[in-house]
Amino acid sequence: MKSIFIIEHLEPELWPWCIIEYKHISKIVGPNNLWFTNIKKKDQRKLEGYGKVILESVKDLKLEDSCVLDPESPNLLTPRKSKEFQHFIFGGILGDYPPKKRTQEELTPFLEGTQAFNIGKEQMSTDNAVYVTKQIIEGKNLADLKFQDELEIDINDIESTILPYRYTLVDGKPLISPELVNFLKKQ
Ligand SMILES: C[S@@+](CC[C@H](N)C(=O)[O-])C[C@H]1O[C@@H](n2cnc3c(N)ncnc32)[C@H](O)[C@@H]1O
Repeated sequence: MKSIFIIEHLEPELWPWCIIEYKHISKIVGPNNLWFTNIKKKDQRKLEGYGKVILESVKDLKLEDSCVLDPESPNLLTPRKSKEFQHFIFGGILGDYPPKKRTQEELTPFLEGTQAFNIGKEQMSTDNAVYVTKQIIEGKNLADLKFQDELEIDINDIESTILPYRYTLVDGKPLISPELVNFLKKQ
């Protein structure tokens, strides 16, 4: 049974930052395993080719064998538990600091019968959360993965910006889309 990763877009607009992150998620899991839900018709084409684009909200799809990833859930997702599910639902929500608990407020309560899990208590970007969930599905425990809390991006020789989120270390380097780094440098 192949796993489907579902990003329920919950920002008021499909901001450039969201598109960059969603493209990165498509690279991580492959477009055939990725659905974007709650997408406005005017934005449909912007995500074409990166996954299945669905105008309806995942809340209305009434999927069985699904779980939602929510930092506020008391239950940790483990490889064994992940085998019970085919659909893994994430909030298409940009990071905020301090966390506003938007997943808990805007997503989890509307997914009737869907179990919620955390992948640690720290807030990750959606692409990092998808990467970590994929690793867990493939048999790794959260404790097997390495993380870095907070990432500093150099904008130029004197300025930098801090991203106050948890990043997975892949081959010793924090997982972030190179396109996002360029985007931040140009801001
Ligand atoms: C940037 S986070 C949203 C953070 C926002 N402050 C909140 O609490 O909803 C985007 C998505 O990644 C997933 N996510 C991030 N960190 C997570 C964690 N530690 N446990 C479970 N899911 C997480 C969730 O699906 C979340 O909706």
